[in-house]
Amino acid sequence: MKSVISKSIILLMIVCMTAVFAGCSAAEEPEGSDAAPAQGEELITIGFSQVGAESDWRKANSQSMIDTFTKDKGYELIFEDAQQKQQNQITAIRTFIQREVDYIVVAPVTEDGWDTVLEEAKDAGIPVIIVDRQVAVSDEGLFTCWVGSDFELEAAKACAWLKEYCDRQRIKQDEINIVDIQGTIGSSAQIGRSKGLKDAVRKNGWHLLDEVPGEYTQAKGREATARMLAKHKDVNVIYCENDNEAFGALEAIEAAGRKAGSNIRAGEIMVISFDGVSQLAIDDLRAGKISCIGECNPLHGPRVRKIIENLENGVTPEKYEYVDEDIFSAYEELTEIQTEGKSYPVKIIGK
Ligand code: AHR
Repeated sequence: MKSVISKSIILLMIVCMTAVFAGCSAAEEPEGSDAAPAQGEELITIGFSQVGAESDWRKANSQSMIDTFTKDKGYELIFEDAQQKQQNQITAIRTFIQREVDYIVVAPVTEDGWDTVLEEAKDAGIPVIIVDRQVAVSDEGLFTCWVGSDFELEAAKACAWLKEYCDRQRIKQDEINIVDIQGTIGSSAQIGRSKGLKDAVRKNGWHLLDEVPGEYTQAKGREATARMLAKHKDVNVIYCENDNEAFGALEAIEAAGRKAGSNIRAGEIMVISFDGVSQLAIDDLRAGKISCIGECNPLHGPRVRKIIENLENGVTPEKYEYVDEDIFSAYEELTEIQTEGKSYPVKIIGK
């Protein structure tokens, strides 16, 4: 069952980044004890297998874990960067098992391919906490619990924003021609965001011209967008599955002599994106280059700590814990959107 565990607002403080815009505070953290361990108490060892460092979101997520699991709070964190390769994650998990860590935390690159190694962790009696993306396993008993985002809902909200924007601007829905710059294929974030878009395309009568992988990076986002602009002269919306792809898309749009913006009628190309983590993304939103961002909250460190504290105290955590997230835009007229019978406020980013 879904349980919303945190009211997010906007982000954040990470290394080399400041709080992103005025009027919004850092994402709320779940309550957890910051108390130093009693003298002589053993540190709790955590092996964390991170996907990589492909995006600003990912860097913020790593920092959240590093800042949370410190020695003075009673933890020893073994951090392994898998450089986007599942095989590296599997190797890291096996090393954690050999080292007899107390907990294994995994941010899985893709959903498939985890059964064997999670079975090994289970046999070793080590609880496994999945963060961010999910795993598709034959037996859900192979992991203790998961915490992360509802990627499909993020997409549904961004698409509801686009539909409503078109209605208000009297742009016919069937004039919308979209290219989807997808994330890492097979990752929950990609699966959810691509599915949410496809559902909205069907419902609203939009045209999905193409889906191409952008791997959540700026370089791939730029490359893919450049190709798509050359191939589809009538594209008017670039749907980027994260902000780093959007930064690349903006470069490609400019290089093609086009203008990024919401004024589709005047020939501008609308960019829609996800995350809302970096100052640059918020600046682009404010400047009208990105039209709408579905928030993806990376501050999972305190959430995982809360889970571990519960487990240490014999409390069974929720199997699935979904983070509550916002949607951001600078278009002041649209302050609320509806999807699946529910209303969501739009956070307006002032000029
Ligand atoms: O899984 C979360 C996604 O992964 C973020 O949206 C993206 O930026 C990251 O790399």
